[in-house]
Amino acid sequence: MILALESSCDDSAASVIDIESGAILFERKIAQNEAHGEFGGVVPELAARLHAENLPKLIESAASYLPRLKAVAVTNAPGLTVSLAEGVAAAQAISLAMRIPLLAINHIKGHVYSLFIDRAATFPLLALMVSGGHTELIAARSYDRMSEVAVTLDDSIGEAFDKAAVMLGRGYPGGAVIENLARDGDENRFEFPLPLKNDKRIAFSFSGLKNSLRLLLERLGETDDQTKRDVAASFQKALFRHLLEKTRLFLSLGSHDAEYFGVVGGVSANRCLRSAFEALAMEFGLKSLFAPLEYCSDNAAMIARAALEAYRAGEFCDPSNVAIVSRISLERR
Ligand code: KG4
Ligand code: ZN
Repeated sequence: MILALESSCDDSAASVIDIESGAILFERKIAQNEAHGEFGGVVPELAARLHAENLPKLIESAASYLPRLKAVAVTNAPGLTVSLAEGVAAAQAISLAMRIPLLAINHIKGHVYSLFIDRAATFPLLALMVSGGHTELIAARSYDRMSEVAVTLDDSIGEAFDKAAVMLGRGYPGGAVIENLARDGDENRFEFPLPLKNDKRIAFSFSGLKNSLRLLLERLGETDDQTKRDVAASFQKALFRHLLEKTRLFLSLGSHDAEYFGVVGGVSANRCLRSAFEALAMEFGLKSLFAPLEYCSDNAAMIARAALEAYRAGEFCDPSNVAIVSRISLERR
């Protein structure tokens, strides 16, 4: 079995995977939403302190599996440095004390493997990663061959959702809040500009939309509940329209050989986004893949699933020298 730890942002999580069957035997997550809620976003030092409290609790609750571990895995990049460091320190301690190898796992690869929990991985895959920290298109041919083909030039889409919820006075995190508000709203009531409209680059940008939202709310002043719903629906539509346009542009260039199209990350829990991208994948003859809802946001089962590939490939790392890297992600193409 492999024990996997995840602490790259504000969720502390642990999972145990069976090496032979690939089955997830244990998983538990302690989220920190409430603690960060009053600040309207993740406070790194607070996140790290809570990881230091929560990771030992998680390891304790997986105690019955510890004697059968063949390796320990941990997210080492990308993420908040101080948060990553807590998970890495815990994994180093387990690896050195139990004399088992350590696997350092890239968080983005983990999200890609959230598509393959309890099943075999299928490639070539084009994955859209949409979360609080990332918005990018990834071309994946195998565990070791993943590259970014499009990234965001500024903010992530998850951050745009979170900021929108704060601006509408609905707290943090905002994705699910905006989705719920949008359900009963008129998505055509307010017009937002299409980012990078006359820019042929395949890239994403959300800062302009966030700014347009701020200006709109300033112009509207006091808003009633229905107006808030209409704003949420129109804003969500604008965010997804941009994602869809740039992804469609990439697919229409025909410079990829993907057979599968996957959407991963916290924002992929959004039902509107799932159905829009399912339709887009179909339009281009690709088989669409989505993670079960419980594996869209950060979790350790996806890290355990990715760790299984690293273990099979023998990609062990020196437990006394684990690189903690906040910003690297995948190779860029
Ligand atoms: O993957 P994740 O848990 O953490 C990062 O790696 O960033 O993603 C969290 C993000 C947050 O911005 C949250 O607001 C967003 O995912 N999110 C959603 C939904 N559920 C979570 N965004 C849109 N619709 C949702 N239903
Ligand atoms: Zn994530």
